[in-house]
Amino acid sequence: MRLLVTGAAGFIGSNFVRRVLARPAGVERLVAVDLLTYAGNLANLGECLADPRVRFERLDIADRDAMAALVRAEHVDAVVNLAAETHVDRSIDDHGPFLRANVHGVLALLDAVRDRPEFRRFLQVSTDEVYGSVAQGRSVETAPLHPSSPYAASKAAADAFVQAYQATYGVPTTITRCCNNYGPHQFPEKLIPLFVTNALEDKPLPLYGDGMQVRDWIHVDDHCDALWHLVERDDTLGRVYNVSANEERTNRDVTAVILAATGRPHSLVRTVADRPGHDRRYALDAARLRATGWVPRWRFEDGIAETIAWYGRERAWVESVRSGAYRDYYEHMYGQRLREGRPAPAEREP
Ligand code: NAD
Ligand code: DAU
Repeated sequence: MRLLVTGAAGFIGSNFVRRVLARPAGVERLVAVDLLTYAGNLANLGECLADPRVRFERLDIADRDAMAALVRAEHVDAVVNLAAETHVDRSIDDHGPFLRANVHGVLALLDAVRDRPEFRRFLQVSTDEVYGSVAQGRSVETAPLHPSSPYAASKAAADAFVQAYQATYGVPTTITRCCNNYGPHQFPEKLIPLFVTNALEDKPLPLYGDGMQVRDWIHVDDHCDALWHLVERDDTLGRVYNVSANEERTNRDVTAVILAATGRPHSLVRTVADRPGHDRRYALDAARLRATGWVPRWRFEDGIAETIAWYGRERAWVESVRSGAYRDYYEHMYGQRLREGRPAPAEREP
């Protein structure tokens, strides 16, 4: 396989590249592309960059000519698209980069691979957020899409274009819709790395609203293994797969786990103004994926403990990604909210 992995220097992308390269029957060539936005960090790829099978290119996936030239030059026969703008709060602030990376970027990649007879697989990594909030039960792959945020809308648009290219041009595609990932190398704007790194420094934990929103959590290794599992199977072409380990937790519960593991008091938690359009609950039915033989390896309690320990150990990594731009972002996103916030009500009795 001559594989193009986009978003390779991001959280999931770097974990995916590392795991693919470690497989005995992995890839002949791995072309890693990343624009290295604020969320991309070449250091995430570490020793992978020295692997003779790897070529890294700093490119924008929305650059149509660059994508077409790269696919042609490298005889790429499979794409795993992990490049995206990914943070819901940033999409509420400015949808521009989301439209470019998540929609125009996907179209540029699809155009680069269409009409290539040797091309075998375009795997689009999507998200459970395209289904919108789920009051009861779990979303199945055939459920209608109801995106609530500009981020989710951009991902739903991408899913629609991927399916349109399959129908119109016969591009062989698979779409995965995964729940919330956690693990090493996640940028500290997302709930778990933000709260862990803040807790370790005795800084406030800004919990949105009542903190009773529910997310479905999966360790990044399990997500990456699901992607590879699907890439290897021909009978998964033309299909959509939910990816979930069925580990639902409220944000309050996740916060309590982080406080316990870091030995910090509940008084660090601040109730702050809620995210506009905040989806109350995500929950996926992953029976279709499980029927292909994939099983998650990580239990949430073990995975989160390992993840918290990683952020505790990797202080240099944390410092390197919290640049001046991060501090500006943090003040912009949380300064006012924290000043107007209040102590969170005490935890309920178990
Ligand atoms: P991330 O923000 O950590 O990484 C995204 C990477 O894409 C970064 O390295 C960034 O530099 C790169 N990138 C952004 N725009 C680009 C462009 N125009 N051209 C090239 N590279 C670009 O995100 P992540 O959490 O690793 O997410 C990866 C993918 O998985 C995304 O498509 C996301 O929607 C999806 N996903 C994430 C989660 C999650 O919980 N993190 C869950 C489900 C799906
Ligand atoms: O569900 C999959 C999605 O998970 C991915 O598609 C997205 O790329 C990824 O960012 C993630 O989206 P969420 O919005 O669920 O993740 P986030 O970490 O931003 O928030 C998780 C929950 O925690 C959500 O209910 C909002 C809440 N939250 C988040 C932050 C950053 C807080 O209460 N306080 C915070 O400061």
